[in-house]
Amino acid sequence: MSTPTARQVSTSRVKELIARQEDRFRHARPRSQKLWQEARELMPRGVPSSFQDAAPQPVFVERGRGSRVWDVDGNEYIDFHNGFGVMVVGHAHPKIVDAVSKRIGLGSHFAQPVAEVVVVARELARRFGQPQWRFTNSGTESTLDAVRIARAFTGRQRLIKMEASYHGHHDALMVSVEPPPDLMGPPEEPASVPQSEGIPPAVVELTTVVPFNDLQALERAFTKHPDEVAAVIVEPAMMNVGIVLPDSGYLAGLRDTAHRHGALLIFDEVKTGATIAAGGATERFGVTPDLIALAKAIGGGLPCGAIGGRADVMEVIEEKRVAQMGTFNGNPLTMAASKVTLLEILDASAYSHFDALAETLQGGLDSVIGEYELPFHVITLAARGGVTYRSQRVRNYRDYLEIDKSNAYLAWLYQCNRGVLMAPGAEENWTLSVQHSVDDVQRYVDNFAEMARDLRS
Ligand SMILES: Cc1ncc(COP(=O)(O)O)c(C=O)c1O
Repeated sequence: MSTPTARQVSTSRVKELIARQEDRFRHARPRSQKLWQEARELMPRGVPSSFQDAAPQPVFVERGRGSRVWDVDGNEYIDFHNGFGVMVVGHAHPKIVDAVSKRIGLGSHFAQPVAEVVVVARELARRFGQPQWRFTNSGTESTLDAVRIARAFTGRQRLIKMEASYHGHHDALMVSVEPPPDLMGPPEEPASVPQSEGIPPAVVELTTVVPFNDLQALERAFTKHPDEVAAVIVEPAMMNVGIVLPDSGYLAGLRDTAHRHGALLIFDEVKTGATIAAGGATERFGVTPDLIALAKAIGGGLPCGAIGGRADVMEVIEEKRVAQMGTFNGNPLTMAASKVTLLEILDASAYSHFDALAETLQGGLDSVIGEYELPFHVITLAARGGVTYRSQRVRNYRDYLEIDKSNAYLAWLYQCNRGVLMAPGAEENWTLSVQHSVDDVQRYVDNFAEMARDLRS
């Protein structure tokens, strides 16, 4: 992991390099700057989703092909952002273009089932070991419905979530996503902090927060709320605070603890599903939850989402006790793209390809970190990975708070100014696609090496 001789990075040097890189960044993006100004007259912060509002300014994108995207100023990038982890198939994949083009010529929306829903559900069942499925249109909808199903099944209302996990933007789970240190409470019993104004305190009160990788805290939360908890929801490897891996045995411990207390275990595999293995975290870590929420990569670039679950649990929908619905659920375009993605693109060779790219990244970055004695480390999991700007492993949110985010920002600027687009923010990681090559990932390593040299010079 980290080099034993890691030395601190000079904060004044980081500041100086950030100023230089920000200048270069702005200079090369006048059209993005102009569009952003225009957009600000029409929408708050000049972006359609607050996630897209990133310093120094949003990059307006024009088009994508293969592993590349081009912005409105004509800058070309190898895409490591990949639409927040959606585009594992790469951009404009010929099979997706073909499937969606054919489908749109036959009509794009009926709000009636199409034959592909059966094929896609069957493939998800095979990959994730859940017999029953329903579709949604986003990760938010998937976790929202999973929570409702769990509450109906157990007849209970309380949820337990991990501090710093993001499960989408609905009220019940937008609690302690990145709580400010002065409000977050003690580490052994974190406070429940709403992530946004407009969330009723009565809803927040029903969500208990525990630290990731801490089964004792979980046990205490159950003891404090006997017979109240419907479900524990967890991102099996947290991917919105860098990458935080579960301790060995932790996920099985979560499942056993939840079951002992009559609660369900929900895996939010919106980011891990179909990216870190064919069957996501369920397959990679060998623990099967009671319910699973999917989205992002399973739709091949179209808005998508799915919930899978145990037959007896999903029975609450069959019996009409839970209303699981949506005008666009199982939309024909999404289903056409999903089918090709899951059956023809993300096959066994795709996962071998991700592993090979991950090895190049891990080896190359580890050796730069070693050579320059940087206090950073790298985690790779097939199509996903990232640099953590701290020597020691991050096990939970409190560890993550110790990271100096300016290193991550500097790294983002270095990559962006040298033809690699990363998702913004210290908390983000990269997503590779089947269309990325070894040369593409080597560019990331080379850019990182240039930053390392400049940091130490
Ligand atoms: C783990 C996780 N769950 C849920 C969501 C919400 O997904 P969506 O943005 O599609 O609503 C996200 C989004 O990034 C996520 O990372």
